[in-house]
Amino acid sequence: MVIFNRSAAIGQILRRCHRAVAAKNNNNKLTCFHGRWPTAEQRDFEQHMRIIPDFITEAEEQQLHEEVEPYMSRLRYEFDHWDDAIHGFRETERKKWYPSNREVLERVRQTAFEGAIMSYVHVLDLAADGVIKPHVDSTRYCGNTISGISLLSDSVMRLVRTSAEKYKQGNAGDGPSKDTSDNTTDDAYRHQPEAKLENNFYADILLPRRSLYIMRHSARYNFTHEILAKEQSQFLGNPINKTRRISIICRNDP
Ligand code: OGA
Ligand code: MN
Repeated sequence: MVIFNRSAAIGQILRRCHRAVAAKNNNNKLTCFHGRWPTAEQRDFEQHMRIIPDFITEAEEQQLHEEVEPYMSRLRYEFDHWDDAIHGFRETERKKWYPSNREVLERVRQTAFEGAIMSYVHVLDLAADGVIKPHVDSTRYCGNTISGISLLSDSVMRLVRTSAEKYKQGNAGDGPSKDTSDNTTDDAYRHQPEAKLENNFYADILLPRRSLYIMRHSARYNFTHEILAKEQSQFLGNPINKTRRISIICRNDP
């Protein structure tokens, strides 16, 4: 008699679904595509959104953390401004680094950038219950590439295609977006254009602790990016335990 093992069968089905959405990219299955992606856009996105797991070692993570912690821990997490793009964070910009950390940043530059990076590196400390809401980094202050090393915690970054209008304008290439529907002024570091999930396509990216992500060109201009709140942090159906996270973000000049 054949005994039907229901949970094993469901497990198999789920695994197959997961393979279907995650298999076609070369990002070690760290990208999960949702919605109906036009083939060309998906290919473009795969090229322009890279995740490199274990970009730094545990020792390097500790050294980076040790350098920024004394300054960071003296700041207070900001939870006040609901219309801000980031909630529950403290941040700084750092120019001078210990030699060992400078080496790591040089490796980031060589891996992620074609030329120089801004001399001030952005350090963002997101509380366990902090969230980065959907936004696009201002094209006035930041060039075509943004990279981030994640310290202390895994997290999920979501990239949502911005207005279909832009897509129709054929604005999928390298150029800054011409969209003016942002609800913030041009002076803001981060713009918050509308990017709905319904009838849209988007990608969830698992950012493991110690990974580097490199967001370039269309992934940087035509998609909002956000870090999901800990309650929403799921990847391929699995809860992701997002705790306090520090990101070391490099950008190039516009
Ligand atoms: C930002 C941002 C992402 C990160 O500061 O604009 O999107 O990895 N940060 O912390
Ligand atoms: Mn950003």
